[in-house]
Amino acid sequence: MSKTEIEVFSIIRPEVEKLKKLGFKTASLDCRLLLTQILGKANPVYTHERVNISENQIIKFQTLVKKRQSGKPVSRILNKRNFWKSEFIINEETLDPRPDSEILIEAVLEHFSNNKGLLKILDLGSGSGCLGLSLLEEYKGSLVSFVDVSKKSLKIVKKNTLKLNLKGQLKYINLDWHADDWDKKLLNLEKNKKFDIIVTNPPYIPSIDIKLLQTEVRDYDPTLALDGGNDGLDAYRSIIPRIKNLLKTNGKIFVEFGKGQEIFVSEIGFQHGLLPIEYKKDLSNIIRVIIFSIK
Ligand SMILES: C[S@@+](CC[C@H](N)C(=O)[O-])C[C@H]1O[C@@H](n2cnc3c(N)ncnc32)[C@H](O)[C@@H]1O
Repeated sequence: MSKTEIEVFSIIRPEVEKLKKLGFKTASLDCRLLLTQILGKANPVYTHERVNISENQIIKFQTLVKKRQSGKPVSRILNKRNFWKSEFIINEETLDPRPDSEILIEAVLEHFSNNKGLLKILDLGSGSGCLGLSLLEEYKGSLVSFVDVSKKSLKIVKKNTLKLNLKGQLKYINLDWHADDWDKKLLNLEKNKKFDIIVTNPPYIPSIDIKLLQTEVRDYDPTLALDGGNDGLDAYRSIIPRIKNLLKTNGKIFVEFGKGQEIFVSEIGFQHGLLPIEYKKDLSNIIRVIIFSIK
């Protein structure tokens, strides 16, 4: 099909206007990202770049913008999301990774800056695998275990591992942290080898608040990845009491939680042999991550 050379601005302008009228604050960026996908380019197109495009491609682009108009996030339309240093495949089974969770990676890097040997890392509630795979990118050749109750999300972690071409000794483990003795089952699978680093970003939204979330979260992130039970703390009450059993004596645990939950999460840790050693704030200055060591 014949292509015409044309400035990005003239292709996206009418679509940007439509999105703006509907109140989308990132209308221009959204349109650029959707157009980039249609053109099959690796990097986002610039507004004043000239591109070769066919009429068919313009129609496809407009179809994607319609999906955006209905409230679907760009990451969900494209099934991918940038996190830390890589682009991750996502789907309806995985949480759309959040920039705030990058604080977990930063915190690990600060605490394990002088590391020489291979690390054994657990990504507990792995979703797309964005945490464990980003750490593998930083600590090449490490041993990373991805644990999730969703088998389908573990398939996405495998896909992301292949896509990013990361090497290491990796395990994909389907396990429910609400099950009795889940720590023993995991240790058994790990041949009793404990972890240097445990990262976890469990579901922490109180069930009753889920309906109040923005459409982009409520309608597109899996409930399994969001719902933290009555007070949002169910996962912490299952994970934290057992986690000491999985950690090497000098290991550390990096836990993400929701706004205002730090006191409760610290307390659960303290009651179960863990010492809160540091808190980290997110991009909005909200305390978002706690780092525990063994007391
Ligand atoms: C908030 S998402 C985090 C995903 C990913 N780590 C990230 O930061 O983008 C929580 C993850 O925990 C998993 N999960 C929820 N309940 C679980 C359970 N009982 N046992 C194991 N994993 C669970 C969900 O399937 C989901 O992938």
